[in-house]
Amino acid sequence: MNTTTRRAVCPGSFDPVTNGHLDIFGRASRLYDEVIVAVLINQTKTGLFSPEERIEMLEAVTAEFPNVRIASFRGLLVDFCRDQDVSVVVRGLRAVTDFDYELKMAQMNYGLSGLETLFMPTNPLYSFLASSLIKDVAKWGGDISPHVPPLVVERLRAKLRDVR
Ligand code: PNS
Repeated sequence: MNTTTRRAVCPGSFDPVTNGHLDIFGRASRLYDEVIVAVLINQTKTGLFSPEERIEMLEAVTAEFPNVRIASFRGLLVDFCRDQDVSVVVRGLRAVTDFDYELKMAQMNYGLSGLETLFMPTNPLYSFLASSLIKDVAKWGGDISPHVPPLVVERLRAKLRDVR
């Protein structure tokens, strides 16, 4: 009997997590034994939320998925995957415009270490969602509640109040 754990990673910035990300985590969690949602800590690009805040939101909104855990990484994704014994990256593809960037990353990762990438077509309900758009709409008082979990709505309101 093969008892190897099939582990996948969903890497990203998640500044903040959206319903589109959550949909991909849930679908990946049904395909793999364990899914690691890995937040990139990028020293050259500061987000609206700190890595700790993003991780805390991710932990809360993925609590319903028992085989999803949250981690963070610096440096190369292939090194993180080697350390965590992960052989597959799962990335959502929203539209053909994502493909160019995603294909390059997937090919680079494969060339670096043989790390595979599985592209998951985004549910059309979420195909226009992006964290950057959510932040912009929230900043100008638009309704983001259909697009992010309620906790994120709350955190965005509080954050934008703080930065005003
Ligand atoms: O949510 P994002 O910002 O589109 O995610 C991009 C991410 C984190 C997947 C990508 O930037 C990444 O893997 N960065 C880590 C550095 C790395 O491994 N670069 C080489 C990959 S081609």
